Amino acid sequence: MQPYLAFNHYLGKRVHLGVCGSISAFKALELLRMLQGTGAHLSATLTPSAMRFVTPLSFEALGAAPVYGEMFDTRDALYGHLDPGQDADGFVIAPATANTIAKLACGLADDMLSCQTLAFPHPLVIAPAMNPRLWNAAATRENWAKLNERGHVCIEPECGAMACGEEGRGRLPQLERIYLQALRAVTRQDMAGRKVLITLGPTREPFDCVRFWSNPSTGTMGAALAVAAWLRGADVTAICGPVDLWLPEGITRVDVSTAREMFEAASDVFSEVDVACFSAAVADYRPANPSAEKFKKGQGELQVQFEANPDILKTLGTRKSQQQFLIGFAAESGQLDANCRAKLTAKKLDLIVGNDVTAQGCGFGHSTNGVTVLDAKGRMEIWPVLAKTEVAWRVWDWMLGL
Ligand code: C5P
Repeated sequence: MQPYLAFNHYLGKRVHLGVCGSISAFKALELLRMLQGTGAHLSATLTPSAMRFVTPLSFEALGAAPVYGEMFDTRDALYGHLDPGQDADGFVIAPATANTIAKLACGLADDMLSCQTLAFPHPLVIAPAMNPRLWNAAATRENWAKLNERGHVCIEPECGAMACGEEGRGRLPQLERIYLQALRAVTRQDMAGRKVLITLGPTREPFDCVRFWSNPSTGTMGAALAVAAWLRGADVTAICGPVDLWLPEGITRVDVSTAREMFEAASDVFSEVDVACFSAAVADYRPANPSAEKFKKGQGELQVQFEANPDILKTLGTRKSQQQFLIGFAAESGQLDANCRAKLTAKKLDLIVGNDVTAQGCGFGHSTNGVTVLDAKGRMEIWPVLAKTEVAWRVWDWMLGL
């Protein structure tokens, strides 16, 4: 699992996993593990056809409890057909077949899973997997539209090569997509109604047509902030420097390369957002007059003139309204407190998160970070080295508490 998706704030939550009969049913075991990694308790129900592909024992062995199968299995509780009901915070069906989707749409309850879903009082998270002809069939299209209209979280299947050799739409959605939608369904929506802008990753400043000046930022911290805000209900726009990371489709993503592009993209949305968080490692300088042709070697020393890039955060800080909340990051290699304090004032920030990039387990490319956090009211905390997802979660907690 990518480190910016590894949240572990779900102790005490229960997620029920429904599994239908598809060749992709084995992937439900991996999904179970991913969700367990968040601290959530998992239980499961397999349809009779799912049990032809995977066994209840596989789910039990991985710690899911209870695991339901046959409707009238004496092992199951007498009222198992009504479980999990209010006891589960979320109910995810992955993979969902055309048959189960049809049952959900019509309210049929002729097996354990369909009966339990009918008795579940909250929206379901549904991740289909089937042959493209089944997916494109008029009946499936109508059933899927009905489930969407009812407010269930309906994750579109993906395109690609099917097990049967055909190509088309019908592949089980990527597990990270299902995992995140499942988490969002059980997360308190305490950032709902807030528009959040986040800058993340490095910028690249070209010397010539093939070389650039940059830094090793991977965007992990910013991605963790973006995903955490989205899980908590915020409307998130992520302005990404060149990074190799995937974000869920619920986040509006703008890809840029240079600091000037990042500045333009951030300026475009800044006035509309309630919260702006600048975690990008922006290059402060760029080569002046980058050459359209490749520099040739063998011509003695290379001299490159640099000119200053816009300070995106500082410039937008001057345009900040009373209602907007501004968060900055500071990567330092010494005098963390003093430097953070100075930046908090100079950039008109409400909160600053500083880290010593030379400390162990901190900064660029790590999945962990050790930060000092300071707000404009004078509160300061030094946090131990934590997962970046934990730092992100705590930053939003701090903002909500102000
Ligand atoms: O002044 P310094 O570069 O240390 O400030 C870091 C903070 O300012 C970070 O939040 C970073 O994203 C932001 N920044 C910016 N534009 C720059 C330089 C830094 O937005 N050109």
